[in-house]
Amino acid sequence: MDNRVAFISGATSGIGAAFAQHFAQRGYDLIITGRPGDEIPLFVKELKEKNNTNVELLFAEFANEIDVARVVGIIKANNNIEVLINNAGYGLGKIFWLDEIKNQEDMIKVHINAPLRFIYAALPNMINKKKGIIINLSSLASFMPIPKDSMYSATKLFNNIFLESLHINLRDKGIKTQVLCPGFVKTNFHTTSDGKKAEFKNRGIIRWMKPEEVVEISVRNLIKKNKVIVVPGFLNRVVKLIHTILPNKVYYGLATKYLQ
Ligand SMILES: NC(=O)c1ccc[n+]([C@@H]2O[C@H](COP(=O)([O-])OP(=O)(O)OC[C@H]3O[C@@H](n4cnc5c(N)ncnc54)[C@H](OP(=O)(O)O)[C@@H]3O)[C@@H](O)[C@H]2O)c1
Repeated sequence: MDNRVAFISGATSGIGAAFAQHFAQRGYDLIITGRPGDEIPLFVKELKEKNNTNVELLFAEFANEIDVARVVGIIKANNNIEVLINNAGYGLGKIFWLDEIKNQEDMIKVHINAPLRFIYAALPNMINKKKGIIINLSSLASFMPIPKDSMYSATKLFNNIFLESLHINLRDKGIKTQVLCPGFVKTNFHTTSDGKKAEFKNRGIIRWMKPEEVVEISVRNLIKKNKVIVVPGFLNRVVKLIHTILPNKVYYGLATKYLQ
């Protein structure tokens, strides 16, 4: 019998790699993606050996239409994709008008266009089988405007509302949807373009989580609560709540002082 398959984008490191470990341990075969030029991570070999699972690693740049179309073709051709995780993503950390417009538009392609193309490709099979899980990686930043990365907050917010709308369509069709909105997670996301790594130090309300913790919370929610919007970590949920309560003007003042 064909094995069930989990597709995870951006699984060469961080949260995507932790999702890959999780689903391999649960007996899924994997289709994972990294970017052209990435080395094949050591954990891929270990995943195959330890879990006796098939791992197909695709190299694709999601700002590139040809690469996205190739991945779409692979998803469409695979009837066994039961889990689809749109995880690939990055931050720019640049003020909109001070960056190249291409960089800003590329983020829309990676955070919005590619995920919706992959969902569109996987859904007919899931609907047919009345079974499936779709998780998109969003962020705590989707709930609040971040002046230094306005495109990041905006593209992540798209994912929240898009998946919530899909949830309403799909919840009676055996398909679970989740938008995972982490705060600070110890991954390469926080490595600067010149290779400088973040210190991952807890400060004030900033609490760093491990990718494995985030994945564990995501999966627990899928199984037990089936919540669509999932914010891992108590303090992150407090931050979200405070932002909802704060008058906008007060937030704008704080963001001008601390987030620029
Ligand atoms: N870490 C955090 O604090 C945090 C917080 C909230 C949300 N998130 C979200 O979580 C997701 C995973 O990030 P992470 O923290 O695990 O970071 P990560 O370790 O840098 O992993 C990101 C993955 O996405 C891939 N990727 C990046 N840009 C891509 C592109 N243009 N085309 C195709 N693949 C691309 C990366 O490939 P390469 O290895 O080649 O770069 C890598 O496999 C992202 O969507 C991010 O926005 C992260």
